Amino acid sequence: MEIITRADAESVGAYAASIIADVVTRADGRATLGLATGSSPLPTYAALAALVRAGDLDLARCQAFALDEYVGLPAGHPQSYREVIRRTVVEPLGMDPDLVHVPDGAAANPAAAAAAYDRTIAEAGGIDVQILGIGSNGHIAFNEPTSSMTSRTRVKTLTARTRRDNARYFDSPDDVPVHCITQGLGTIGESRRALLVATGANKATAVAAMIEGPLSAMCPASVLQLHPHATVVIDDEAAGQLAGIEHYRDIQLRRPEWQPR
Ligand code: GLP
Repeated sequence: MEIITRADAESVGAYAASIIADVVTRADGRATLGLATGSSPLPTYAALAALVRAGDLDLARCQAFALDEYVGLPAGHPQSYREVIRRTVVEPLGMDPDLVHVPDGAAANPAAAAAAYDRTIAEAGGIDVQILGIGSNGHIAFNEPTSSMTSRTRVKTLTARTRRDNARYFDSPDDVPVHCITQGLGTIGESRRALLVATGANKATAVAAMIEGPLSAMCPASVLQLHPHATVVIDDEAAGQLAGIEHYRDIQLRRPEWQPR
């Protein structure tokens, strides 16, 4: 796992965006991106949007797959991840809406929709770079503690803590859906590159458990310890509980020029 620290959320976003831009350029503009919702990747999306506006990056031919979606919100609900992805990613980054996929949380049979989504990712050739945030309880996508490390896209029940964390987006805490469709930890683990961004002191415990804790279903993000190419980009506050921080900073400074990003 590669650990990159930056002073603040904006610099985290700029660094993460530069990695994504690099992946897209190497794929001649046809990369497949894995998209996360939540506040953490917003500075990354803003930095990508700036590159697009400046004419330095074109995402119009990229495919994308969102990590997750609430089950049971009516189509077009502003807090459905389909709408959030449209507002925060597809439009500002100039992506083709027909190439951007989100699990179907309004399906009559959500379990079947989840399995179909997993197959669609595989049929598209997999994810080149998967953007991830981390929940305060260590979840990635909506894989809550105790999720199987080999899980596929499926229906999950949200914990009370996650529903509380996400209540800020809804009129009332009771409006937060109880179920979701989420890519599994096994699905995420197959991405060719995983890029997790985290900022703020409220993520410090989860970040430390992910990087330095045991591989444990109680911290689902720790599955990234098994990923062949995981990069974690965090600000100083989110790095606040890392025992080995001096060592990680030293590695950053001594990175050989010839080492691929
Ligand atoms: C949500 C999303 C995750 C996200 C996490 C953290 O529940 N399903 O993909 O990483 O919460 O959100 P935030 O970045 O707003 O802290």
